[in-house]
Amino acid sequence: MSIVLSGIQPSGSLHIGHLVGALDNFVSLQKGNSVFYMIADWHALTSKYNQVEVIQPSVYELAATFLAVGINPNTSSIFVQSAIKEHAELQLLLSMTTPLSWLERVPTYKEKQVNANADLNSFGFLGYPLLQAADILMYQADKVPVGEDQLFHLELTREIARRFNHIYHTNFFKEPQAVLTPTAKVLGLDGRKMSKTYDNCIYLSDEDSSIKEKCTRQMISDPNRVKKTDPGNPDQCPVFVYHKIFSSQETQDEINKGCRGASIGCFDCKMKVAEKLIIKIAPVRERVQASLQNSKSLDEVLDHGNTQARKVAEGTMEKVRDVVKLPKF
Ligand code: TRP
Ligand code: SF4
Repeated sequence: MSIVLSGIQPSGSLHIGHLVGALDNFVSLQKGNSVFYMIADWHALTSKYNQVEVIQPSVYELAATFLAVGINPNTSSIFVQSAIKEHAELQLLLSMTTPLSWLERVPTYKEKQVNANADLNSFGFLGYPLLQAADILMYQADKVPVGEDQLFHLELTREIARRFNHIYHTNFFKEPQAVLTPTAKVLGLDGRKMSKTYDNCIYLSDEDSSIKEKCTRQMISDPNRVKKTDPGNPDQCPVFVYHKIFSSQETQDEINKGCRGASIGCFDCKMKVAEKLIIKIAPVRERVQASLQNSKSLDEVLDHGNTQARKVAEGTMEKVRDVVKLPKF
């Protein structure tokens, strides 16, 4: 049995990329593992410190989404990062042995600073990956399901663990492994990475009509196929990427042929994508709406998850304080 930990930031609406890129993987990893799924609200604060109103509603929305996609709160610990103060303490202690240059060379550090709408020249933002390392090492996670964009953070976590172990002559911290999603990456409506910043997302909260509208009106297709009588090339079409993820092999073959032979139009092809997305999104959206109405039971789920997580975190910190020879009071 492996220990699995992952986290998502509660920083606004979740989109279909989160569902196939992360959540589906979270669900399947529940089987046979001891799992912790964390709502990373401190991480959200590192870049949203000037829009704090979004955080609390997003925490609930994320908790409701975890339940809606099939994460079982009785066997998986769904918890809130800021409820477990030990994460901050571990980040602090790890900060003593982590060279500043390791944090400064994280690729997302400079990139995000340029694109963000807030000034991210802060101590907190620089410490983002160190806080993530604390999240992971706290639970001695073996596996961390993440997207490709997080691989650098995982490598850094391993280096931080190794250096701590080396300096204090211990083998306490385990080195975690990333688990990448097998599915292809979902692209945004404009063919770029799906991101709120680009306004090219299909959200898990989108109504059926809006999904249809986004697919048929905004999704870009093979630019060389101007008229319906022009043959298209699915290999160059972002719409076909969606079919590869969401449609059966049979439908894919049909579209592949129809597109190359100009017997199927792009509108119909996009409409088929919309239908598949609705099948995937509508039940999740409905379950999220229903559980958001019952905030008492969401609180119970989070209280339970926090208690489970806290037990482990307290044990880890006792040991870590011991290793760095802090007095016991
Ligand atoms: N940085 C992650 C992201 O943006 C979120 C995160 C925070 C996380 N702590 C984590 C992911 C620990 C995995 C493990 O997606
Ligand atoms: Fe793309 Fe489908 Fe149009 Fe072919 S028919 S170009 S796969 S949208």
